[in-house]
Amino acid sequence: MSSFLHQRQPLNIPSNPYPISPRSLTVSQRPFSIFSRTGLLVLLSLMLVLGVFFPWTGMPQGIFTNSKVSLSKWRDYTLEQAASFVAKNGTVIVCAVSQPYLPFLNNWLISVGRQKHQEKVLVIAEDYATLYKVNQKWPGHAVLVPPAPDAQTAHKFGSQGFFNFTSRRPRHLLNILELGYNVMYNDVDMVWLADPFPYLQGDHDVYFTDDMAAVKPLDHSHDLPPPGKKGRTYICSCMIFLRPTNGAKLVMKKWIEELQAQPWSKAKKANDQPGFNWALNRTAAQVDLYLLPQAAFPTGGLYFKNETWVQETKGSHVIIHNNYITGFEKKIKRFREYGLWLVDDHALESPLGRL
Ligand SMILES: *[C@@H]1O[C@H](CO)[C@@H](O)[C@H](O)[C@H]1NC(C)=O
Ligand SMILES: *[C@@H]1O[C@H](CO)[C@@H](O)[C@H](O)[C@H]1NC(C)=O
Ligand SMILES: *[C@@H]1O[C@H](CO)[C@@H](O)[C@H](O)[C@H]1NC(C)=O
Ligand SMILES: *[C@@H]1O[C@H](CO)[C@@H](O)[C@H](O)[C@H]1NC(C)=O
Repeated sequence: MSSFLHQRQPLNIPSNPYPISPRSLTVSQRPFSIFSRTGLLVLLSLMLVLGVFFPWTGMPQGIFTNSKVSLSKWRDYTLEQAASFVAKNGTVIVCAVSQPYLPFLNNWLISVGRQKHQEKVLVIAEDYATLYKVNQKWPGHAVLVPPAPDAQTAHKFGSQGFFNFTSRRPRHLLNILELGYNVMYNDVDMVWLADPFPYLQGDHDVYFTDDMAAVKPLDHSHDLPPPGKKGRTYICSCMIFLRPTNGAKLVMKKWIEELQAQPWSKAKKANDQPGFNWALNRTAAQVDLYLLPQAAFPTGGLYFKNETWVQETKGSHVIIHNNYITGFEKKIKRFREYGLWLVDDHALESPLGRL
């Protein structure tokens, strides 16, 4: 499998700077003046550059057949192929990303790379632009599970499009479990400060973090917390680790059922997180659940809002989640304020480079 995938690398556009040279040769044999030939070459190079950066836009047919074919091959790349390509030691790290989130993906990837886990990352692209962009820079590390959700409507937090987009998450995770891998899911508005894997102790089915901002004792229980005000817990669907056990699969199946049973409505403007919490509630007796330590995996509602707590727990933080705030600009601003927006100065640590 890996050799099959490595064969795809030469098709990557940047490593093949002259995909149109046979055509330009044909052109130059015709009795054109030097000036117009140069002009034509400049025009062709310009179009090539545009084709490289925006290969999904409808560039003129013909000239870009090569690059289009090489990129469109990723359309047929399956989750099974992708998981087998990236998995190390039976484990994959996944995120689900659409185009507007690419800067966050890049930022998160830099932090993952610093903990030496980048190679296990599989980006589940939620649109074709993202699929092509990531695989062009980092062949084999993005996959799209069709059908792609409608890109125009998927981004606004609380909208039906956003609900549809996040509803795909438990399906992706269940698919990967069915293939037999351990899987860690992360939202990409996260930054790793340390390696989370040593915290995945024991043989539990599902590991998760609490999204409640209330401070817990350092030696808090690792059981599912008691339900909160709305009768359910506030476990975050942002960072989940699953072993390929019947228990973990059961939780994913319940999550899918919960999302179907309580679809999005204008009044509730739900996301997928309540569904995850109901799934945990319903399966708690049959599944081995494990709440990760708050000091290592704090919600943004605690980390960004309680400086006293941050000082008290200094040195224990592992993954920081930029939640309890909405909007790309606000999230970036806050990451910058806390020195966690790494893409400005460290883009080269990301396999995607500068975007
Ligand atoms: C591989 O996975 C096993 C079982 O999950 C774990 O005990 C071991 O430490 C892992 N090895 C590496 C090199 O990550
Ligand atoms: C969300 O999914 C539902 C059910 O599949 C569909 O009817 C609806 O059009 C989708 N809405 C958006 C905005 O994508
Ligand atoms: C599940 O939710 C119900 C309703 O809030 C609650 O009474 C029950 O204790 C919860 N079960 C678990 C295991 O958290
Ligand atoms: C902030 O953290 C401190 C130290 O852990 C804690 O005593 C206090 O209750 C927290 N404040 C809030 C508003 O949760």
